[in-house]
Amino acid sequence: MALYTETVMDHFTNPRNVGSIENPDGVGEVGNAKCGDIMKIYLKIDDNVISDVKFETFGCGSAIASSSMATEMIKGMTIEDALNVTNKQVVEALGGLPPHKLHCSVLAEEAVKSAVKDYYDRNGIEYDASQFPDCGGDCESCHMV
Ligand code: FES
Repeated sequence: MALYTETVMDHFTNPRNVGSIENPDGVGEVGNAKCGDIMKIYLKIDDNVISDVKFETFGCGSAIASSSMATEMIKGMTIEDALNVTNKQVVEALGGLPPHKLHCSVLAEEAVKSAVKDYYDRNGIEYDASQFPDCGGDCESCHMV
């Protein structure tokens, strides 16, 4: 079996939603300390719905494919639904990732959450902090930049 599914290769070679958004409503940037890869997600939010989303990922192919898929999944979702999207769902939508590449999809989940948290912070919206990754930069593998 090939290491990467056709869907992964498609999203890697033809990533959706690449770029940035001018005057975004929320921006999330996360990095993986081990591999040094960085993912940034921009959100446009209208009436509690993610009306547009773009990403910039400086990282491996799996991270790019995961960002592309995650942005496709959350576009049009309510913020609450987007917060419930897990890296596992992103991996499933990609048809799987090799085990040693699963952490790349974690970046996508964390970047989305970080962008929503930024939106909440900018607008003074109260939230349950436990919904968001918060390792304070101490985590071995992943941390908020
Ligand atoms: Fe760094 Fe994939 S190897 S995110």
